[in-house]
Amino acid sequence: MDLQLKGKRALVTGSSAGLGEAIARLLAAEGAAVIVHGRNKSRAAAVAEGIKNDGGQATFVLGDLSTDEGADAVAGNVLADGPVDILVNNAGAYQPRAWMDVSAAEWGKSYNINVLAYVRMIHRLLPAMKTLGWGRMIQIGSSGGIEPFALQPDYLAATAARHNLTVSLARELKGTGITSNTIAPGPMLVENTRNMLLNMAGQYGWGTAWADIERNAVMQFVQNDVGRFGRPEEVAAAVAYLSSPMTNYITGALLRVDGGHTRSV
Ligand SMILES: NC(=O)c1ccc[n+]([C@@H]2O[C@H](COP(=O)([O-])OP(=O)(O)OC[C@H]3O[C@@H](n4cnc5c(N)ncnc54)[C@H](OP(=O)(O)O)[C@@H]3O)[C@@H](O)[C@H]2O)c1
Repeated sequence: MDLQLKGKRALVTGSSAGLGEAIARLLAAEGAAVIVHGRNKSRAAAVAEGIKNDGGQATFVLGDLSTDEGADAVAGNVLADGPVDILVNNAGAYQPRAWMDVSAAEWGKSYNINVLAYVRMIHRLLPAMKTLGWGRMIQIGSSGGIEPFALQPDYLAATAARHNLTVSLARELKGTGITSNTIAPGPMLVENTRNMLLNMAGQYGWGTAWADIERNAVMQFVQNDVGRFGRPEEVAAAVAYLSSPMTNYITGALLRVDGGHTRSV
């Protein structure tokens, strides 16, 4: 199937690692010109280089999206070459902190990087996108924003806000040709989550072999019908789908990529 992404320009925030990297790689493989983003220059450059080595088109930009100045720098660099057709809001940060260990100030910081960073990029890229008469605002949310568990309450609440802002944005974009949708991954296996699980394994008695740790972590926190963590490529596939002009009639939607973890119909 041709997703019709050739000629489209896509910015994927937080694509120097994890889910964002897989998203950037797949959009590029589907023909989009991709802008890789992160704060770490060597990692962002390596992802862009890897895409080019595979025959795709990629550049990279750097900037901290937890500040207006950082977002200005990223948007300024990106818009210097024209509007983007596709913005994938993905950069974010999480830690497995217990409820009573997260201060109100830390809730505020979490909201800043996990929600306001998305808002900053929407504010900065939307006016130019509107001139195209077509576009995609894709927010990465989380199954934990729908069915939270006890750990990392600040982060999970922030991901719920991502789902909500995606819908108000869809209403705001009525008649513009731009859609706004959320993809809500369940726990995904990226380097960061793998390290988190390895650190938690002793405390929770999950064993020492990776296969046991993954299975026990799924049983304890995120039971699902597939019985494992998701893989970054599985989120990337959902992003590629919602990026396609074939989905012009889908807006304000939330697509779960969570192995069936969330239970509502
Ligand atoms: N992994 C999961 O299980 C999972 C599940 C559901 C939802 N999500 C969501 O998916 C997104 C990506 O998660 P991930 O697991 O792939 O994370 P990750 O591997 O830790 O990667 C995070 C990315 O965000 C960038 N980033 C972090 N803080 C930033 C900041 N202040 N300014 C700019 N960029 C920043 C990082 O760039 P640098 O390192 O270069 O700074 C990196 O590219 C997050 O929004 C998360 O909420 C993840």
